[in-house]
Amino acid sequence: MNNIVILTGAGISAESGLKTFRAEDGLWEDHPVEEVATPEGFARNPGLVQRFYDERRASILAAAPNLAHLALGRLDAEWSGELLIVTQNIDDLHERGGARRVLHMHGEGLSAWCQSCDARHRWTGPLRNGPPCPACGDVALRPDIVWFGEMPYRMGEIYAAIARADLFVSIGTSGAVYPAAGFVQEANRSGARTVELNLEPSAGSRWFAETRLGPASELVPEWVGDVLSASFPSPRQPA
Ligand code: APR
Repeated sequence: MNNIVILTGAGISAESGLKTFRAEDGLWEDHPVEEVATPEGFARNPGLVQRFYDERRASILAAAPNLAHLALGRLDAEWSGELLIVTQNIDDLHERGGARRVLHMHGEGLSAWCQSCDARHRWTGPLRNGPPCPACGDVALRPDIVWFGEMPYRMGEIYAAIARADLFVSIGTSGAVYPAAGFVQEANRSGARTVELNLEPSAGSRWFAETRLGPASELVPEWVGDVLSASFPSPRQPA
């Protein structure tokens, strides 16, 4: 087994105190997606959207990586084969947990994107008071987030990694949003072994060869231990 692709969702950051989206107290309960996570919503009421992401940016900075992030950081450091952590999350807890091979397909909460000059800047403060772009000076910075109706980042790289994968692992995602929710089927097509680590069965559980249920802070360290001790069953399914 050489090539691993890991998909993560909000569930891996839940134990760090960051809200998920579709739980009873989820982010989408208080904020209709159409208002805060679409280009149309931003055009209609930029102040509301900037405030929503200012709050999320502040909560990201106040959060700390949990045992699941740290375990993936250890895997990244010790795994000599290919590894790609494709995250739907906009927090930087994978990086702060030690992971390096991370791809944020839905953008990053700590990044601001200038609509005038296209520059992207690491951003930890608020955007609601219209700061000028450090590169061009225009007041045209938006959250560097992929909103509904926009194309997720670096999809070509993701599909190429899945095509080469021997093992595809999904952690803490409901399998509710495409294209991420379809990755497991791509992985099955490329013959990879598919494993789901989640608090509860997801919408896509039936596509996984194995599902382990429980909190990520328990499941992920255990799974990383299995992979690094090579006690993990060989990924290639029998011909
Ligand atoms: N450990 C493991 N899994 C957990 C934990 C935990 N401690 N807590 C919650 N979960 C699981 C839930 O059971 C659920 O299946 O994490 C999943 C979170 O699902 P969502 O809230 O739908 O979040 P996510 O799957 O990341 O959403 C995908 O939807 O709204 C868009 O852009 C947004 O990136 C997001 C995408």
